[in-house]
Amino acid sequence: MTADAVQRVVIVGSGVAGLQTALVLRRLAPHCDVVLASKTALAESNTRYAQGGIAAVVPDPPGTRAAAHDSVADHIADTLAAGAGLADPEAVAVLCAEAARGIAALQAAGVVFDASPTDATVPARGREAAHSAARVLHLGGDASGAGLVAALTAAVRRDPRIEVLEDTLVTRVLLQDSAGHDDGAPPTRQGRRRASGVEVLHGGAARTLRADAVVLATGGAGQLFDSTTNPRIATGDGVALAWHAGAAVADLEFFQFHPTSLDVPGNPLISEAVRGEGAHLVDADGHRFMADYHPDGDLAPRDVVSRSIAQHLLHHPSGGRSGTPEGDCAREGRRRAGVYLDATGLGRAFLVRRFPTLTALTAQHGIDWSSTPVPVVPAAHYWMGGVRTDTSGRTSVPGLFAVGEVARTGVHGANRLASNSLLEGVVFGARCAAALAAGGGPAPSFDVEYLDLEAEETVTQSFTRGDLQAVMSDHAGVLRTGAGLELARKHLASYRPDTDPELANLLLCARLLVHAASRRTGSCGAHHRADQPDPAPQAPAPSRSYARATEGTRP
Ligand code: FAD
Ligand code: SIN
Repeated sequence: MTADAVQRVVIVGSGVAGLQTALVLRRLAPHCDVVLASKTALAESNTRYAQGGIAAVVPDPPGTRAAAHDSVADHIADTLAAGAGLADPEAVAVLCAEAARGIAALQAAGVVFDASPTDATVPARGREAAHSAARVLHLGGDASGAGLVAALTAAVRRDPRIEVLEDTLVTRVLLQDSAGHDDGAPPTRQGRRRASGVEVLHGGAARTLRADAVVLATGGAGQLFDSTTNPRIATGDGVALAWHAGAAVADLEFFQFHPTSLDVPGNPLISEAVRGEGAHLVDADGHRFMADYHPDGDLAPRDVVSRSIAQHLLHHPSGGRSGTPEGDCAREGRRRAGVYLDATGLGRAFLVRRFPTLTALTAQHGIDWSSTPVPVVPAAHYWMGGVRTDTSGRTSVPGLFAVGEVARTGVHGANRLASNSLLEGVVFGARCAAALAAGGGPAPSFDVEYLDLEAEETVTQSFTRGDLQAVMSDHAGVLRTGAGLELARKHLASYRPDTDPELANLLLCARLLVHAASRRTGSCGAHHRADQPDPAPQAPAPSRSYARATEGTRP
């Protein structure tokens, strides 16, 4: 393809990844028109709720008094270690090495990061779990996502050649064969069709948007579980859209649970940055139990902390609980109350200044967190798996790209390092834009297993989002067993695919996740098999990619 072959691009999603892709593409390819479709308001996304901030090693201005002791090599090492042996070193190197450039691009677009309280010429740097240095840049203390979205949406709205379509749900990726004929069928082994636009629903009416390339920036799927930090719109649409288009997906068994959501309906997040500033987890007896589970205690990797909470509640009656049979452990691990985040040592003035949003949130629930520990519970937070891409966002379907949480670039492996997700959207959004500006380039080929989910459907009952969330939370959450996953598979296979696109997408994602989790019999990162608890002494089984079996791809 030539550089000017991409004249019109549809970007699906207006979180950090979609916004960044749109802005950088318009800068690099001024001839290109962008359509940015978002299923609700432009500003609504997971991004908007981000608290801790963006991990990045950025240089201090020359001559500053206290230069930060950090390096890109350390950021790479921390990311690989958190990924539990399954992160892709090449992708991780790209992520960390291009972080400073990404931050500079955000600043050029109007994003203003908090400055250090002791030296206004250097950025404030927060500490989060499994980082060997304080390197998390933030905005508004703990309102990083809101600040980011405000600046980037304003920049998008200023550009007359970015057409913003709000309340516009993308329901299908359109495909075209090499002769230019439209055909909804996914690719066959013989000929790969290319993405040629999308079908959308707006105000109840279906419409087609044609484009030379389609970028999925649709975020995650926290709504698969009943306790989640994600908003209602996080329904895995991008994975479903890509699956139906025939794209490869990978690492779907790895779903990250954040250890500290506030234990109230809706599970609002209490940022890991609070532990980074010195708060700690205690059980109902006031015991700092994380020291019993990992040498890094409260700042152990996120998968370890969530799992330790679940196991602590399971095995320690001090949390007011007694043990349960192994099959029930997932349910027990997410039972309410029993673990608290104690930030009382940080002092009221500091909490108000550093965490204004969380101070207001806890007060809203009647808690003065400067004097009382806050009840917390793990909640579904981030999907490491997704649509498989190369390091420029290209999927295995020509013309179809994926960036941000929906993509599986390989940077997170089996467990994401804190605050690397916003960074992923910034870095790979920019790289995807650069690839599009240069004509898109050829789609990569990945080794995949073709999967025929339809063949196992028994389809006997209708279902609600709550039914699906209960199945997933009971059997595919923090602690899993082979028997539990098999039960989940049977339940999900019996659900009648729904006409509501979001519910249908959740069902497909749930079935893919459970399939991938059943195939991984050993524990690794966020995938913990309580019936096979010890990670194998040898390297974990490699990452698996799947694609939809069709007439053309069935053996
Ligand atoms: P999102 O921000 O989720 O945006 C997805 C967009 O796609 C939305 O606009 C949505 O409306 C749209 N969309 C989805 N499906 C469709 C469809 N079918 N049609 C049209 N539009 C569609 N990460 C960090 O690095 N640092 C943090 O501090 C941090 N804090 C977090 C706090 C919370 C409470 C949560 C939930 C997550 C946090 N994360 C954090 C994770 C991070 O925020 C997300 O992974 C990241 O923002 C994802 O960005 P994205 O652009 O890929 O997707
Ligand atoms: C947090 O602030 O704890 C969330 C950070 C993240 O998800 O990376």
